Amino acid sequence: MILIEKIEEMKFYIRERKKEGKIIGLVPTMGYLHQGHLALIKKAKEDCEVVVVSIFVNPVQFGRGEDYETYPRDLERDRDLCRREGVNVIFTPRVEEMYPQGYSTFVEVEGKLSSILEGASRPGHFRGVVTVLVKLFNIINPDYSYFGEKDYQQVLVVKKMVKDLNFNIQIIVLPTIREEDGLAISSRNSYLNKEERKAATILYRSLVAAKEQIKRGERNPHSLISFMKNLIEKEPLAHIDYIAVVNPKTLEEIEKIDKKALLALAVKIGETRLIDNMKIEI
Ligand code: PAJ
Repeated sequence: MILIEKIEEMKFYIRERKKEGKIIGLVPTMGYLHQGHLALIKKAKEDCEVVVVSIFVNPVQFGRGEDYETYPRDLERDRDLCRREGVNVIFTPRVEEMYPQGYSTFVEVEGKLSSILEGASRPGHFRGVVTVLVKLFNIINPDYSYFGEKDYQQVLVVKKMVKDLNFNIQIIVLPTIREEDGLAISSRNSYLNKEERKAATILYRSLVAAKEQIKRGERNPHSLISFMKNLIEKEPLAHIDYIAVVNPKTLEEIEKIDKKALLALAVKIGETRLIDNMKIEI
């Protein structure tokens, strides 16, 4: 496994592999790797001859007052994990490499898709995500790139960008990996103290309880949201950012649950903002 920090070196490596006709997979991450990331890497290893994992805490996708500075980082550990999975290259550029002085180009998926839910709570977030991914896609030119359903809206925004900008990249989406008690694994879970960690299960528990309500015949999204709200408010450490019942393709609110729906929520546990979602099929 090699570690590359320079864009030109990364491009050169890819050019050589392309000459050999190799299929290239990219797993974009912000590091502090966990089982969720590893599931993406394992799938990439199955599909591709060369697997690149990018590790880059992307400053432009963090808002003011968010956790860019404190975001957990541990390259040594990430390196070991990647080596064990048979990753070929870790691409870990410095911020000045990706955004040198005077950098001024940003890519935005306009419209509702990136301005509702996470987009509403974190203005500019998807602009940052999409910009860094366009750069990574141009540098690495992968055949496949891997994303987790944990960040459901991110997947839709990325797919839209890939389609609109005509990238020849297959976006592969994998289900959310969870802890035994249901908590969706996230690098940010490391912020939680013992008490908060326990409280954090309320996200998954409320999704499961809501699904059960739907099974019992509940079809009204508003009642369902109230039901989840009541449940979460019983947890003193939890503060709701949003709870939404939406169309899984457009993320627009629905007036009645029939066939398919997506339950999505963002909740602060103490100071830590967590998200989760669940697809519903009737
Ligand atoms: P990061 O949060 O590091 O996540 C990298 C990838 O891992 C994303 O596709 C995310 O959805 C996936 N992932 C995270 N937790 C997961 C879990 N529990 N189960 C399955 N997949 C999971 O998402 C980002 O980084 C950034 O926005 C990025 C796309 C790298 C752009 O900077």
